[in-house]
Amino acid sequence: MMKVLGIETSCDETGIAIYDDQHGLLAEALYSQIALHADYGGVVPELASRDHVRRIIPLIQEVMAQAHCQSNDIDGIAYTAGPGLMGALMVGAAVGRTLAWTWQCPSIGVHHMEGHLLAPMLEEHTPEFPFLALLVSGGHTLLIDVQAIGQYKILGESLDDAVGEAFDKTAKMLGLDYPGGPAIAKLALKGVRNRYKFPRPMVNRPGLDMSFSGLKTFVLNTWTQSDQSEQTKADIAYAFEDAVVDTLSIKCKRALKETQHSRIVIAGGVSANEHLRTRLTKLAHDHSIEIFYPKLQFCTDNGAMIAYAGLQRLKAGEHDGKGFQTTPRWPLDQLQAPA
Ligand code: KG4
Ligand code: ZN
Repeated sequence: MMKVLGIETSCDETGIAIYDDQHGLLAEALYSQIALHADYGGVVPELASRDHVRRIIPLIQEVMAQAHCQSNDIDGIAYTAGPGLMGALMVGAAVGRTLAWTWQCPSIGVHHMEGHLLAPMLEEHTPEFPFLALLVSGGHTLLIDVQAIGQYKILGESLDDAVGEAFDKTAKMLGLDYPGGPAIAKLALKGVRNRYKFPRPMVNRPGLDMSFSGLKTFVLNTWTQSDQSEQTKADIAYAFEDAVVDTLSIKCKRALKETQHSRIVIAGGVSANEHLRTRLTKLAHDHSIEIFYPKLQFCTDNGAMIAYAGLQRLKAGEHDGKGFQTTPRWPLDQLQAPA
């Protein structure tokens, strides 16, 4: 039996959880800094680090109490070591390593995107390997051939803005709140279908790479040349979301064909998007493919996915060395399978 405390502090969410390899998720807590950054229209790194410092210990105490755990019940500590904001990562890494030292258990630095990728494993019905993964977050847009934990081949990625970033920037242009993804999705519900038709970037080119920054410019031009009414704003939100969802769906279809995988996993903040989930579920259905995604709270950043990913590696005997390392830029395909 193994219990792992997971710590996520890569961006604007302090996420803490305890995952047990026999009983699953025992407890989790999250503090979102959205309100703190709202006035700035995006995450301010220095403010993020300072707030993680304030929140992290009370959240760990809360989760330990919820799970009825004492320090000697914890067998390992997993913290996000990258990619992410340097100062924010260092808060989680410093606290995680210090706790591991005082509690005399091993610690491990987890790759944030491996956390997202494995988040569907927190559900009841979990995917078997191998599978195709679409990872869509604020910083990454990746299509990955997943053979096993740590065996990741990147098939395609965004050459410019990540999908989540495109949602956030588009929302900002339309005067919507941060984070932009949920704001656009909500407004799009009121949009008139097919009043606008935005381009599907790079779908006519072979390959699985993507690009979303042109779409953002398209939105800006459409918006500035419009009557700028509330209805127009909703119609643009709809057209933008539809273009993104359609593009991702076309690329997933192509990747499934190329890899011949019979399972697809979608994860990361943007996988919370209902329109995207519905479209990919239909695609999977039409091609007799199994689809898996995390429940909404585990699509966006959380401690549970870090505890889970860390546990898989700690169980295999992997742990931190003596050095202290956080890695703000860290390509996912540099990871290796646990021993
Ligand atoms: O995975 P995540 O919480 O953090 C990163 O690792 O980046 O992803 C955050 C991103 C933000 O860009 C946010 O706008 C987007 O996910 N997002 C959404 C939705 N919920 C969050 N995008 C579209 N629709 C949503 N419902
Ligand atoms: Zn994330």
